[in-house]
Amino acid sequence: MYLGLDLGTSGLKVILTDVAGRVLDTVEMHYANPHPQQGWSEQDPADWVTACGAALDALHTRNPDAVAALRGIGLSGQMHGATILDAADQVLRPCILWNDTRAAAQAAWLDAQPGIHAITGNIVFPGFTAPKLLWLKEHEPETFEKVAKVLLPKDYLRLWLTGEHVGDMSDSAGTSWLDVGARDWSDVALSAGDMRRDQMPALCEGTAVSGHLRDALRQRWGIAGPVVVAGGGGDNAAAACGAGCFAEGQGFVSLGTSGVLLAAKDRFTPDAESAVHTFCHAVPDRWYQMGVILAATDCMNWLSRQLGQTPADLTGALPDHISGPSTLTFLPYLSGERTPHNNAQVRGAFVGLDIAHTPVDLTQAVVEGVSFALRDCLAALNGTGTDLSAVIAMGGGARSRYWLETLATVLNLPLSIPAGGEFGAALGAARLGIAADTGAPVAEIMTQPAIAQTIDPRADLQDRYAAGWERYRALYPALAGTA
Ligand code: XUL
Repeated sequence: MYLGLDLGTSGLKVILTDVAGRVLDTVEMHYANPHPQQGWSEQDPADWVTACGAALDALHTRNPDAVAALRGIGLSGQMHGATILDAADQVLRPCILWNDTRAAAQAAWLDAQPGIHAITGNIVFPGFTAPKLLWLKEHEPETFEKVAKVLLPKDYLRLWLTGEHVGDMSDSAGTSWLDVGARDWSDVALSAGDMRRDQMPALCEGTAVSGHLRDALRQRWGIAGPVVVAGGGGDNAAAACGAGCFAEGQGFVSLGTSGVLLAAKDRFTPDAESAVHTFCHAVPDRWYQMGVILAATDCMNWLSRQLGQTPADLTGALPDHISGPSTLTFLPYLSGERTPHNNAQVRGAFVGLDIAHTPVDLTQAVVEGVSFALRDCLAALNGTGTDLSAVIAMGGGARSRYWLETLATVLNLPLSIPAGGEFGAALGAARLGIAADTGAPVAEIMTQPAIAQTIDPRADLQDRYAAGWERYRALYPALAGTA
């Protein structure tokens, strides 16, 4: 038996699987994500541990025999967060998350340092880990002095599970301290960020054994034999493992809190200036590229709070099929933007509001605005020479048929919809746990999900959505000018 843990922004999801990756049970636990100031986004690492303990207790109570037969655990998680520990492994302050933009000035400074783009393969975005430590040095120097280790969120969970300080390549690629081509910490990047190698965890591949479950936890859950904990992966790499995206041209689009358009790569071919992310995959000798937008379903959640209706009610009120873009344009930069703009200050807008507009019109505009933003990501990926022929759609937003039709037409790409069940980051994590335990080849374990249906772009509406995208793009300079 195996566990896949996905430490998300809104909660922790744990799945229990057999060696074939069939899901036997699932538990989800939620925790807070305070925004103590504008642009800040934090979490208390103790909440992750509490959620993990409670999730595994619940799985154990419901499936005592299966949990007793546990052989491996894989970890996945939200990327880029800075979990800061002292020499006694005590957490020094709340974790600063991936969607926190307080370190914009430090990121811009680090981004301009010679060699950083070539080494890390990426722009130093404000949400990445390294600028957060420079912010800490400037604003909380007493805390900075005490930093003995910096761990990514899922790696803090690993410390609790195994007692080991280990990071995997795919998650570590998002720190701006890793040489992403060489898959090793870079002393040049570390010293540019005022950090040292001894403050970093040991590195391992996502499919490798990073440690073993502590005895006290094995006893708590009635497990007799040893349990390996795999390196695991950042959530997008793990999702690519769950969806079987490894070969050039294979990819996925995720409508989650953030929005992601990901393409697997068999070589390291970065193009930092494009604001496309190029990271190590969670399996050896592979990389991936992606465009990231900071708010996808987060925009729908925001609208739902304003209108006092659930996101499902909002999208449920849309028609069954699309019929052309709205004259109301929404720009989804509620938390700033990464691809293609790299602008932490820019904020969103509704443009073209009419006295007759209703909540349904606002919802349609949000669906379209997020889709146009992902079209920007596709253009950025294409600009680096990366092509996608068909993509798997996932994430909460993919439950809306209307959103899928909009997105397929805006991207002009067929979207494959898996036939239910698990295919995301938690499954990818479990599969990495299976790989670490059995040593079986990746191609055998990490297959593509069965596809229930394909949503084709609406050829008859192509031109109108393309024109909508042009209108959308023309609005960014005005917004950027007000930031
Ligand atoms: C990727 C990114 C987000 C988070 C969300 O670069 O910042 O997708 O990983 O969990």
